[in-house]
Amino acid sequence: MNKVNLRPTTTMFPLPVMLITCVDGSGKPNIITLAWVGMVNSDPPMVSISIRPSRYSHGLVKASQEFVVNIPSKEMIRKVDLCGVVSGRDVDKFSETGLTPIPAAEVSSPLIEECPINLECKVRKIIPLGSHDLFIGEIVAIHIEDTVLKEKGRVDIAKALPVAYCAGAHEYWSMGKKLGWYGYSKGKL
Ligand SMILES: Cc1cc2nc3c(=O)[nH]c(=O)nc-3n(C[C@H](O)[C@H](O)[C@H](O)COP(=O)(O)O)c2cc1C
Repeated sequence: MNKVNLRPTTTMFPLPVMLITCVDGSGKPNIITLAWVGMVNSDPPMVSISIRPSRYSHGLVKASQEFVVNIPSKEMIRKVDLCGVVSGRDVDKFSETGLTPIPAAEVSSPLIEECPINLECKVRKIIPLGSHDLFIGEIVAIHIEDTVLKEKGRVDIAKALPVAYCAGAHEYWSMGKKLGWYGYSKGKL
């Protein structure tokens, strides 16, 4: 196999692509699309989001110390893209997209009703990395649409219709078939 050596960039995929909601001091909500998002701790459950200081949402999350991670489904992908190419400084992204803000339980940032899963987070740490600041948020409440829930509180992925962002290619992809499950290879390779 012949490998081509390229300069270091952010080429890694698949990545999650999430709609993050946040609020300004008067309670006006905004949405920002983020792909630099990850689960970073199990107990307590914690996520990381990485935001450039120039983004309008950066100041909102920093001031309020909270945000909501809304997991979109593939039907919403045009709206996901739009929230990543216009700024809340110029545009009300809820009106522009028709997405619906509904109250959260533990934070003032709203949930996006159309997203099947919403994770309410409180900021525990901010780490400047260079181009972006990394916000570590503790998940303080989770909301899941009952239509995508199956037994034991697990999510039915076939119904949640998740989307992946492929950095490097700059493309959104839907997911194909289930390949296996955690630990299914044990003793069966
Ligand atoms: C697919 C996609 C992924 C993005 N990921 C990030 C990210 O991880 N961090 C970031 O700072 N901006 C990211 N952006 C850019 C912001 O979403 C974009 O600049 C947005 O308009 C900022 O909105 P705001 O000014 O209302 O905060 C992404 C955009 C797209 C389309």
